[in-house]
Amino acid sequence: MLRGKRVILGVTGSIAAYKSALLVRELVKAGAEVRVVMTPSACEFITPLTLATLSRAEVVLDMFPGASSRGTWHIDLALWADVMLVAPASANTIARLAHGMADNALAALALALRCPLVIAPAMDTDMFTHPATQDNLEALRRRGAVVIPPDSGDLASGLTGEGRLVEIPAILETLEDVLFADGNDLAGMRVLVTAGPTHERIDPVRFIGNHSSGKMGFALAHAAARRGAIVTLVAGPVQLATPRGVRRVDVTTAEEMFAAVSDAATDANIVVMAAAVADYRAAEYSERKLKKDAQGEGEMLLRLQQNPDILRILGQRKRNQILIGFALETHDDEANARLKLAAKNADMIVLNNPTIPGAGFGTDTNIATLLFADGSSEHLDLLPKTDLARIIIDRAIHLLTTLSLDAAPASS
Ligand code: PMT
Repeated sequence: MLRGKRVILGVTGSIAAYKSALLVRELVKAGAEVRVVMTPSACEFITPLTLATLSRAEVVLDMFPGASSRGTWHIDLALWADVMLVAPASANTIARLAHGMADNALAALALALRCPLVIAPAMDTDMFTHPATQDNLEALRRRGAVVIPPDSGDLASGLTGEGRLVEIPAILETLEDVLFADGNDLAGMRVLVTAGPTHERIDPVRFIGNHSSGKMGFALAHAAARRGAIVTLVAGPVQLATPRGVRRVDVTTAEEMFAAVSDAATDANIVVMAAAVADYRAAEYSERKLKKDAQGEGEMLLRLQQNPDILRILGQRKRNQILIGFALETHDDEANARLKLAAKNADMIVLNNPTIPGAGFGTDTNIATLLFADGSSEHLDLLPKTDLARIIIDRAIHLLTTLSLDAAPASS
């Protein structure tokens, strides 16, 4: 995924420096060409030999590497790179970078960069939350650096809190986002996406649900965030990592989803309802586990009550907003989807059929037909959900433009 990309990895003096060996290995595996630069403190935690071996290149350690090398090595290396990643970034190096110091090889290199700078801090909680560190990170962000916030958890000091180096997949995902950004055409726009199933509780051990994994909705949230949107993702119960830069609100039931969506929809420019919302919930929730034979031998009747039709309500409230729904159909697909488009006052419906292999629930791919309010349609063959998400966001942007909607907040 990083094939052909040239990455400078800056390693600093943090206990998490031992993870840089795995990081280099994963970067190389992803196809990147890697050059490592280490601060003197980093060498206290991991040897340059390890990182040189894994990156298959000499590690930069010194400002003045010897008579035989050119004095402008840092400029040459800075111009070579597509991105510089500092991981782990200690409080000390963050301060150096924030203040534009050039007193070691890593800091000098960072000052000469023309490519994006990505920083993954790792340190003790108190050092991370200290106003000095936070101010330094803010200064770097203001100058365009991408800061990957650390995880919370057990720290080397024995304390628990923010400060753990984020997991390597999250670092790679950020590098991909930075290197393959889709432009900034949604900058300042608010996008609301729903994803996943809802679970409607019957009793303490049972619920009504469906097979939605959340992959389609999460891909949409990610695609919008990659284009600079301020994204809120209202997610039903799913096991997926939150895409970078996305604000996530977790819900369980349709009613909870309705409340969260109502909140976020008021100032959203684009709303995409990809969630598989349960149409019905149990009319009464039983505080105690329902007994098998409570209603006699062989059968049980469960009274159901209709849930709010969130998309329909959003369609009624819609003003200066692009509203996109999905239609999950197993028969009379297009006719049913067209009915939904009209009944819910949507601008676009994404029709998919879960009985077709590669489409619908749980898969990484989907097959969709986009139906538009002007009567037109667009059929898309089997695609990764990530690609389909990009196309849906593209079409949403086109609708925003053609309807001459501006970026002003929509009113409810
Ligand atoms: O999550 P994945 O595993 O990736 O699977 C993706 C998906 C199959 C869930 C997705 O592609 C999809 O089709 N989502 C919509 C599923 C659905 O509920 O379809 P529907 O035809 O029943 O509903 C039509 C629209 O109304 C949908 O936009 C739905 O979000 C919305 N709805 C439905 C019921 C309800 N009470 N309120 C709603 O807003």
